[in-house]
Amino acid sequence: DTFEYYNDPDEQSGQELGPKAEIKRWEKEQLSKAELKFGAKSGKKEQKEYDFIVEDAVDFVLSDTIKGSNNDAPQLSAAEVKKQTIKECQESLPIYHYKESLLDAIKEHQVLIIEGETGSGKTTQIPQYLYHAGYCDDDMKIGCTQPRRVAAMSVAARVAEELGVKLGNEVGYSIRFEDCTSERTKIRYMTDGMLLRDFLGEPNLASYSVMIIDEAHERTLHTDVLFGLVKDIARFRPELKLLISSATLDAGKFSEFFDDAPIFRIPGRRFPVEIYYTKAPEADYLQAAVVSVLQIHLTQPGGDILVFLSGQEEIETAQEILQDKVRRLGSKIKELVILPIYANLPSEMQAKIFEPTPPGGRKVILGTNIAETSLTIDGIVYVIDPGYCKQKSYNPRTSMEALTVVPISKASADQRAGRAGRVSAGKAFRLYTSWSYQNELEQSPIPEIQRTNLGNVVLMLKSLGINDLLNFDFMDPPPAETLIVSLEQLYALGALNHKGDLTLTGRKMAEFPLDPMMAKTLIASEKYGVVEEVMTIAAMLGVNSAVFYRPKDQAVHADNARTNFFSPGGDHLTLLKVYENWAATDYSTQWCFENFIQHRSMKRARAIKDQLQGLLERTEIDLLSNPMEHVGIRKAITSGYFYHTARLTANGLYKTVKHQQSVHIHPNSSLFEEQPKWVIYHELVQTTKEYMRQTIEIESKWLVEVAPHYYKEKDIEEKKMPKQRGKAKAELG
Ligand code: CDP
Ligand code: MG
Repeated sequence: DTFEYYNDPDEQSGQELGPKAEIKRWEKEQLSKAELKFGAKSGKKEQKEYDFIVEDAVDFVLSDTIKGSNNDAPQLSAAEVKKQTIKECQESLPIYHYKESLLDAIKEHQVLIIEGETGSGKTTQIPQYLYHAGYCDDDMKIGCTQPRRVAAMSVAARVAEELGVKLGNEVGYSIRFEDCTSERTKIRYMTDGMLLRDFLGEPNLASYSVMIIDEAHERTLHTDVLFGLVKDIARFRPELKLLISSATLDAGKFSEFFDDAPIFRIPGRRFPVEIYYTKAPEADYLQAAVVSVLQIHLTQPGGDILVFLSGQEEIETAQEILQDKVRRLGSKIKELVILPIYANLPSEMQAKIFEPTPPGGRKVILGTNIAETSLTIDGIVYVIDPGYCKQKSYNPRTSMEALTVVPISKASADQRAGRAGRVSAGKAFRLYTSWSYQNELEQSPIPEIQRTNLGNVVLMLKSLGINDLLNFDFMDPPPAETLIVSLEQLYALGALNHKGDLTLTGRKMAEFPLDPMMAKTLIASEKYGVVEEVMTIAAMLGVNSAVFYRPKDQAVHADNARTNFFSPGGDHLTLLKVYENWAATDYSTQWCFENFIQHRSMKRARAIKDQLQGLLERTEIDLLSNPMEHVGIRKAITSGYFYHTARLTANGLYKTVKHQQSVHIHPNSSLFEEQPKWVIYHELVQTTKEYMRQTIEIESKWLVEVAPHYYKEKDIEEKKMPKQRGKAKAELG
């Protein structure tokens, strides 16, 4: 690819390494301080260079030490760990010593709960043990689910390497829109969502001898649904082995759910971790995190740093600030390699976090929650934990979903801190006070199933013939209200009939690994003769946040390039135009570069489109195309997204039609200035305001036309003054 969104660490390797003597002296001085604190200014000349750090320095206080479970084990440096051969590496993992007893336990029990600290070898080793023990004979497979795409890919790559096979042959992975497995695949890593889809084709998992539900403690929506399904299957497939593997101390709860299945505990291997808190709350945790990285880099002995941030945007911002500060410090400091890790990061960039730290330098990894338990990165000695993560929340009453940054739980904070003690004693710096930890953090996170829209899952379960959802065997049931709202929405989309049974449309919708609203849009596009175009839009929305490239130093050009694609009607049509123009250049990389479009995202959109095309052919939908038919395209979108309708009210604000929630057009939208009367949005994001992201303009009468179950004439009437008052009253009541 011609350009990188990320700074290439190679660019930094030309720098002059090694600190100058005066800096060394200064660093030593800092080191001698017991607390990681930049004390009173000494007035020394050399300190000037660091003024910006001194001014913003975060004041930490040591509060606690998490005990290590075996303090006598040799402490290895990251470089030493990397030098180990694969065999040495495998034999040094805590799980290795329990290989035989684990295999015995699996032989003896059909369902086993396995609990062990992150990095003990559960994910990479157990499938290999089973493979060598003959569980893949007779053409059977071993499956292992992962809540995160990145983990599925990176773990499969690692295991393929350990077994000395090509990824995709004996060991493969399968994630949405990407299948890297073959006929020969014996060990299959997959996202939990993929396994859920597989149930549609193979309801009894007949090709598997073992299914491992890994990272069970994450309690993602799909993992939670899988619990109920695999528990049921285990009853009538006694030869199927079921392993539930988890990092934290939820094992008792899992055991209870699986009819008191035995728990196999793998004793950990962890070095002590000192916990530091800030003395006072930090107003700007991003800034504080960046400064803390530099404080550690300048004052602490070797070892890599892991910073937990809430998402891609935050990571990119932190990376920018950090790079800028490092540049200002120039060659006076040791090399600091800054590496991002988040779910949407392209895999070749993700792989970089596993590369060895350059000699004398230090890695700092800026990661999301993904680094909390699903990925083990060796060499981390310092953890910086601002105490936040991005979390989905859902309000069934308004059917509004929002992704917001919320405080983490104590369990998460402890997991994060634990990441510092894998190869040697470590330190965790929490950017909140000890009081906050004690009094403000919840004990453990709320399972996703209790805070998300269930449309997808309900459709899936219905297609599996599970009709009585209110009595499905959930470990923690979702709120009944959410289930009922999902059923109502599927009814309005035409996926269920009035008896609650799946319709033909519903059956077709379930074929697509898409949100029911998007699946419905695709199906509806046939009626308007715009299947090809809607397919493109669906693919582009799948990567939407990463289509436009906006480097800070060329922001004006980038914005111009973006607005040049604006199409009348709204943002979906803008995305369509981008894709069509790109396709017309025969998918040129150069074209992307010139137009500030991210080539990588476009390639992904193209891959998604190919997949959708295959699925459409399977559901026998004609691939009709009519690029000029913009009304048809918008009507198709209305057919799927009629829930997401907002209207402009008298005071110039938008309100959702059914629930009268205030929402705003995102400033990046082509409709931001136009302010059409009626709009449909793709999603809502809550930042400073409730923003509608990706909006199109519609005509209100389409609503009654495409969703007569849901909209009546009175919903779309022009509101007059008396009605407004009536509405205000209703709101108060
Ligand atoms: O699943 P669990 O957290 O118990 O451990 P794991 O993921 O199986 O990790 C065991 C070891 O494999 C770690 O020490 C990592 O060093 C190594 N590993 C790796 O090098 N590359 C990966 N993509 C995943 C794991
Ligand atoms: Mg694991």
